Amino acid sequence: MAEIIDGKRIASQVRDEVAAGVAKLKAAGGPTPCLAAVLVGENPASQVYVRNKQRACERAGIDSRLERLPDTASEADLLAVVERLNADPAVHGILVQLPLPGAIAEANILRAIDPAKDVDAFHPENVGLMIQGQPRYLPCTPHGVLELLRRSGVPTAGKQAVVVGRSDIVGKPMAMLLAQRGRDATVTLAHSLTPDLPRVCRTADILIAAVGRPRMIGKDWIKPGAAVIDVGINRLSDDEGGGLAGDVDFEAAAEVAGWITPVPGGVGPMTVAMLLHNTHRAAQLAAGVAD
Ligand code: GUN
Repeated sequence: MAEIIDGKRIASQVRDEVAAGVAKLKAAGGPTPCLAAVLVGENPASQVYVRNKQRACERAGIDSRLERLPDTASEADLLAVVERLNADPAVHGILVQLPLPGAIAEANILRAIDPAKDVDAFHPENVGLMIQGQPRYLPCTPHGVLELLRRSGVPTAGKQAVVVGRSDIVGKPMAMLLAQRGRDATVTLAHSLTPDLPRVCRTADILIAAVGRPRMIGKDWIKPGAAVIDVGINRLSDDEGGGLAGDVDFEAAAEVAGWITPVPGGVGPMTVAMLLHNTHRAAQLAAGVAD
């Protein structure tokens, strides 16, 4: 039976560490870190995510602001909000919750955020810095996965990692970070058009699932003893039993894996914890005191 990686416990540890760092920054006369979240429209999942992020900020001693726009907002309306937050010295981090309504080009918005305040690390400058091994910020979800592996004692050096899913937010940066010097994994970036995906997944010592298809990855896709990290958060219909499911068939996979993350309670809480980490770092960088 696999060791279950407790993302809630590890995220709570990270949040405590950030809270201690924030307290130290304030005690030294530094600024109170401030995150501005921007929410466009009424997407129910986005509303929950933003509320969770704000609550976590407050608990860590980080100020949070919420800017709300109606789903009829234009790209120019949203750009005006971003420009105002860029120019506000009290705001250290800016997060525009995705997805945006279809009429707004996400790439234009992400490029407009001041890279120094881009705590999601989605701006092309921050993506470039990360790929070149000199990150300003690491993207929150892949960073959360790295912390889960490190704090659970899962080795990466010399191991075969397979990342399933090639999104800009998770799959692509995840693959880059695992291959980076110091982590030293050999990485395969697989996706929906990869031939014989089960066979490819079976080569993985570390399998990262980020596809968004409930319980797609079964027991026979997993090498015995592998670390299985499930980034998927899929809402099930009432016909499917309701609730949330990951991309991995957890019960079956846990019989063969060496380590496994549950959904919920695995990667999800880490994403929020790493956002707090980045917001603290943004305030440190603004104050010229980054460690
Ligand atoms: N939507 C889904 N994940 C994320 C994330 O990490 N950041 C933002 N801004 N939006 C998201």
